[in-house]
Amino acid sequence: MQLSTAFSSFLLLSSHALSQSIGYNCNPHCINPTIPTTNRNLTFGRHYAVLNLDLIGLVDSIANSTAGSAFINSTASWIDFIHAQNPPPLSIFSRVAFSGSRKPELGPKSPFTKVAASVTLAESQIYPAFKVDEQAGDVVLNKSRYYAGWGNPLETILRAQQIDTVILSGLTTSGVILNTVYTLYNLDYKVYVIANNTIQPPGNNAPEVYNAILEGIIPSLPADVITVEQARDAVKRSGPAIY
Ligand SMILES: *[C@@H]1O[C@H](CO)[C@@H](O)[C@H](O)[C@H]1NC(C)=O
Ligand SMILES: *[C@@H]1O[C@H](CO)[C@@H](O)[C@H](O)[C@H]1NC(C)=O
Ligand SMILES: *[C@@H]1O[C@H](CO)[C@@H](O)[C@H](O)[C@H]1NC(C)=O
Ligand SMILES: *[C@@H]1O[C@H](CO)[C@@H](O)[C@H](O)[C@H]1NC(C)=O
Ligand SMILES: *[C@@H]1O[C@H](CO)[C@@H](O)[C@H](O)[C@H]1NC(C)=O
Repeated sequence: MQLSTAFSSFLLLSSHALSQSIGYNCNPHCINPTIPTTNRNLTFGRHYAVLNLDLIGLVDSIANSTAGSAFINSTASWIDFIHAQNPPPLSIFSRVAFSGSRKPELGPKSPFTKVAASVTLAESQIYPAFKVDEQAGDVVLNKSRYYAGWGNPLETILRAQQIDTVILSGLTTSGVILNTVYTLYNLDYKVYVIANNTIQPPGNNAPEVYNAILEGIIPSLPADVITVEQARDAVKRSGPAIY
């Protein structure tokens, strides 16, 4: 597997390759969570935040595949479940968006320019299946590179709200998820990725990349990969969220 290839072109999708789209529908096999499903004691504590990353127009490209619709349903249901908590914890959404129509964050020599050049203003909106709840205090941040906190107040918000644990959903697995796991891990957060709620769009050895990240790379940090069922159970076991 060539990770360098995987790192360079995830946002570029072709609809003819939809059938290869890899999401969490146990295809080619079920991802092994890092925490055994027999453990009934996982909790996120009280200072946790839910990160919903790059759920933007890109989602449309995978929406018609089996894996894509499973991903959308699982992630949308998770977001609704979080909003239904009393009180709701902090939810932060990221989108690829720029300070103006000239996209000044993208320079002629920035490697990310190739990736983001095709993201129009319309495509940078949160995909309609995913609800942003202003009343619940949800935050939507613009970002201009892979990492969810690039060029925005993500870290300021997490620190100010005394967050110690983050639970990640989003696409792509090799882009925003992998980059954000690494950076927040380095910043001392306890990081969980929900396997059902991330997807690797077709092309560039997507199945191998997806499996290697969720079963090899993230567990080796170590950070945790869990199922959406484990995440829901953990939320029920966690204290009322402080936000
Ligand atoms: C959670 O449960 C498992 C098995 O039931 C046990 O091995 C582990 O020590 C427990 N962890 C905590 C933090 O209690
Ligand atoms: C997915 O299906 C919908 C409704 O059938 C259609 O409008 C949309 O263009 C399709 N998207 C892709 C990427 O094929
Ligand atoms: C999430 O993944 C697990 C397999 O580990 C599967 O049993 C479960 O059905 C999936 N949940 C959803 C909502 O797709
Ligand atoms: C997920 O799918 C189930 C079964 O098809 C449906 O009842 C539910 O409304 C869907 N949830 C969301 C948030 O799309
Ligand atoms: C976020 O991106 C939008 C364009 O989609 C832009 O209008 C807005 O000014 C940006 N916000 C910030 C804080 O940069």
